[in-house]
Amino acid sequence: MTQVLRVLMLGDSIGKTGRALFARHIQSLKAEYSVDAVIVNGENSSDKGVGITPEIVAFFKKHGADIVTSGNHIWDDISILPYLEKNTDLIRPANFPASCPGVGMTFFTCKGFQVGVMNLMGRVFMRPTLDCPFKEAERLLKRSIEITPIMLVDFHAEATSEKLGLTYFLEGKVTAVVGTHTHTLTNDARILPGGTAYVTDLGMSGSLHSVIGFDAPLFVQGFITAMGSDPHVVTAPPYIMTGVIITIDPLTGKALTIENLIKHDNQPLEGI
Ligand SMILES: [Fe+2]
Ligand SMILES: [Fe+2]
Repeated sequence: MTQVLRVLMLGDSIGKTGRALFARHIQSLKAEYSVDAVIVNGENSSDKGVGITPEIVAFFKKHGADIVTSGNHIWDDISILPYLEKNTDLIRPANFPASCPGVGMTFFTCKGFQVGVMNLMGRVFMRPTLDCPFKEAERLLKRSIEITPIMLVDFHAEATSEKLGLTYFLEGKVTAVVGTHTHTLTNDARILPGGTAYVTDLGMSGSLHSVIGFDAPLFVQGFITAMGSDPHVVTAPPYIMTGVIITIDPLTGKALTIENLIKHDNQPLEGI
């Protein structure tokens, strides 16, 4: 049988809850679904639920992540800034100004093949002053195509239309475009005719009874009073851990299959 790569891409991991779920389940999920590599979005993985630290990147890697992606919360814990300057296993959206620390594209080896991972951020209902994600993707692909035909894009964006727009723009040029940021797994995974896999959002790892992983009453108060408050990560069960598994032809970089992964867990997490 022709060799394939199977990559699990997980949505935003929320605080201690998301980290503990990753540690508890990732090895058994890899075995159960014959997963060769894992990419997880870590922008919400700090204790506060916004930002990430060098220790948390090490934690994800120790438990089985190959690459950690991020999004608008990448700068929220400033201890990550020097790490971004020196490392490429955590990436930030490529269309932030070039003066920002870190890179938006990286590569790792899986079963002897180079796999590219790109992080981009949307501008619709987000930060409109970012560089154009379409043009930035095009610019980076000119470099990556010299290295590998396999490219997995985490498009951290709010609007479904922008996510689909970028995907059709990149159809046939990248292996997959997966959305993150809304923390809700969507039921629209597909493979475009050009061989690019797509899902609007990977969802999250966190507590189910929450507003995108955070305390609902606080969120409700925020909407009613129009005053912000510190987010509070929910740690109580039941939990949900979601993403997609993509099967890739490593010689062509085309996606062969994409399937949603939903892991439910009702057992309280220890020590969080
Ligand atoms: Fe997020
Ligand atoms: Fe986000």
